[in-house]
Amino acid sequence: MSAPNPRTARKTTAASGAEALQSCIAPSCGASYGIRDQIYVCPRCGGPLEIQVPLESVSQTRDLPKRWEARAASRDPKDRSGVWRYRELLPFEAGVPVVTLFEGNTPLYDAPRSAKYSGLAALRLKHQGCNPTASFKDTGMTVAVTQAALLGARTVVCASTGNTAASLAAYAARAELQCAILLPRGQISPAKLAQSMDYGAIVCEIAGNFDDCMRLISELADEPSIYIANSINPFRIEGQKTVAFEILQQCEWQVPDHVVVPGGNMGNSSALGKGFDEMLRLGLIDRLPKLSVIQAEGAAPLAHLFAGMESFGGAVPENLPDHIEVVRNPSTLATAIKIGAPVSWQKSLRAVLRSRGSIITVSEQEIADAKAIIGLDGIGCEPASATTVAGIRNLTAAGKIHSEESVIAVLTGHVLKDPDYVSHYHRGTVGLDSTESGEAAKPVHITGAFRNTPIKIAASKEAILESLERRR
Ligand code: F0G
Repeated sequence: MSAPNPRTARKTTAASGAEALQSCIAPSCGASYGIRDQIYVCPRCGGPLEIQVPLESVSQTRDLPKRWEARAASRDPKDRSGVWRYRELLPFEAGVPVVTLFEGNTPLYDAPRSAKYSGLAALRLKHQGCNPTASFKDTGMTVAVTQAALLGARTVVCASTGNTAASLAAYAARAELQCAILLPRGQISPAKLAQSMDYGAIVCEIAGNFDDCMRLISELADEPSIYIANSINPFRIEGQKTVAFEILQQCEWQVPDHVVVPGGNMGNSSALGKGFDEMLRLGLIDRLPKLSVIQAEGAAPLAHLFAGMESFGGAVPENLPDHIEVVRNPSTLATAIKIGAPVSWQKSLRAVLRSRGSIITVSEQEIADAKAIIGLDGIGCEPASATTVAGIRNLTAAGKIHSEESVIAVLTGHVLKDPDYVSHYHRGTVGLDSTESGEAAKPVHITGAFRNTPIKIAASKEAILESLERRR
């Protein structure tokens, strides 16, 4: 995103209060700004911004886990929210009115079939699809929309492959803010689109792909009455980082060896990396889990960059690359992550390198079969989320994850987010074609290894019993 004009875009509320700062992550710049400045990238150099919460002024650090645990049983909306429960580490003053739908509090499931499929003794799935709008975006949106309301924004806007839009639309409705969403026409799941319509957003179907929508967002960022809620906005990352805290709490502060997430625009991996890093700096954990990111092979700019960096032999380079080769016509049936120019790639890459994780790709076939296996554990997810289990299987086969290690895959969206895909997989009609995916896409045929096609059956008890017998 290009730097918005600081004269028009910077709007500062009178009372800043909170001690946190927004800082540019570019090592050659490092400029800092007030926490209530309405900026999305560094006004000086255009670099990505990150919020720095002064961890040294957090009091009674050792008691935090107990305090957070106790809040889960309270009726106060700020305690019930699985994001605001961790408010000591969020950049707001006490008493700020929050816009919440009681996000977070999502389950961490054991998944024995997925574990076996991945070559592991055990695997746990952190199901972020159990959030109020059925995706992980809600944990970031509660914070971004709270900040929008504090700044007195009139309209909140985002570009989206569907989930960010549904989430923003819901939180904007709660806050009674106007909401406009930019979507790539014909390229998002109808279920996600339906959510945004229902929550009353102005739905703008753009003739272009997600990256075109993001470009328009960077132009709109100049308008002071408009607040941008994409994950380039560091407040989104602040909300999403709390998922790392919740995971650690659910693991009783035993650090998992690996945490694996899908990668699209790269906000989620950046946020988890920041969350684990803050826990380490506060001394609540003594090491970082290895954070790995999985991309679909037709939309994998960061995995390509990472593959080119493996010559570093795992060492964290002093200066991160300042350029990424974008993928011009990204293609994947996992439409949530059909992104060729991810905005948060630098933060994500930094988090992966610091934790000594990996960034790899998986094929359409691998995503589809992994999704069906997750389903057989009784835990549905959308295609993008299934990149995790497919990726874990490949990392295990490559010896980067060992079978006895503790591994958590973050499922980002609910199975009902993309029912057409599920149905096509099980009926044997799933495949990429050039109309759906732009000129560069090649047709892909997927033969589902775990297909479960409905059977046509006569209306008789005998016929039903006979088919049950055949399937035993
Ligand atoms: N999984 C799902 C279900 C998503 O919707 C997304 C991103 C991702 C994974 C990737 O996360 O972008 O933080 O790396 N969806 C965005 C959207 C782009 O507009 O809904 P990321």
